[in-house]
Amino acid sequence: MSTKSRKQDHLEICAGEGVEHSRKAGFECMDFLHNPLPELDFAEIRLEVQFFGKKIFPLMMTAMTGGGDSSRKINLELAAAAEKHGFAFGLGSQRPMLEGGDAETYMVRKVAPSIPVVGNIGAAQLLHTPLEKIGGLVSKVEADGIAVHLNVLQEMVQPEGDRNFKGVLAAIGKLCDSLDVPVLVKETGAGIGRDAALKLRDAGVEWIDVAGGGGTSWSRVEYWRGGSPPGFGDWGMPTAVSILMCKDVLPVVGSGGVRSGVDAAKAITLGASVAGASRPFLLAYNEKRLDRMCEDWKQQMMICAMLTGCRGMDALKKAPFAVSGWLKDWLE
Ligand SMILES: Cc1cc2nc3c(=O)[nH]c(=O)nc-3n(C[C@H](O)[C@H](O)[C@H](O)COP(=O)(O)O)c2cc1C
Repeated sequence: MSTKSRKQDHLEICAGEGVEHSRKAGFECMDFLHNPLPELDFAEIRLEVQFFGKKIFPLMMTAMTGGGDSSRKINLELAAAAEKHGFAFGLGSQRPMLEGGDAETYMVRKVAPSIPVVGNIGAAQLLHTPLEKIGGLVSKVEADGIAVHLNVLQEMVQPEGDRNFKGVLAAIGKLCDSLDVPVLVKETGAGIGRDAALKLRDAGVEWIDVAGGGGTSWSRVEYWRGGSPPGFGDWGMPTAVSILMCKDVLPVVGSGGVRSGVDAAKAITLGASVAGASRPFLLAYNEKRLDRMCEDWKQQMMICAMLTGCRGMDALKKAPFAVSGWLKDWLE
């Protein structure tokens, strides 16, 4: 099967039911401590962060698509919404471009001139692709940097999956040395722990997107495509745990199961610098409520700041909260 038709399958399957972890990301086990005396005017709340050299509202639409039939329109609409709301935007895997696919489906710069646009390539492709070609993927789409995705779980259950991940860390190190733009390493729904984060930092990586468990489950998505064996639908480190493990190592994008602006604010308080999501933006695009959703999430994050008495990111990162349920067990 070609990469292009596989990407189309993923879009269709992810638009349906039965593709998420049965255990959530951990934000449901976390409550902000309400501050009834915030002594703030809502108008003075500013949530901003530097990401890939640009100032954004701390939200990212993380990697989804490119190369497939419908992906040009999806990328353009998502990127235009990200630009309007000041979010960062992640392109889907650019593997189809390496295979001669339509680069136009990734060209969003004209609708997203001011936000960070981040390219994307799989670790497995990185192993077999000359570094100049990866640099070419970045410059062709005028990206601000590139994300390397780690997806061992997905490849292990994918019918046509790659199985050899030897040498990935060294390849990431060489990529970081060769590019003059930042490299972000992301998971795809199974999380990144402290040991891996330390190795990635030593290799020269500048950002980590933990993409932890609790949202889209790539093993579930692949089962719908005929993948096997079963048994890994809930595999992965929950996002809340993964953020806590990585936050002191590198700047973190907290994603995987972020399902509202309240979850996004909690990701920031746990230690992420930017919160991110994929599938919720795809569903909102399909249901023609993308702009509404972006505005709601933004407002929710700012209201969380107001209700915890936080004027900006530094304060929101330290907002007091309580932990209960299974997350408490994990933390202990
Ligand atoms: C339809 C779809 C396609 C995706 N394709 C990619 C991809 O090409 N590259 C990548 O790094 N991650 C890809 N992902 C994974 C997401 O970037 C994200 O890490 C994961 O879905 C967890 O976030 P979520 O729970 O908010 O969906 C894709 C996700 C979705 C829903």
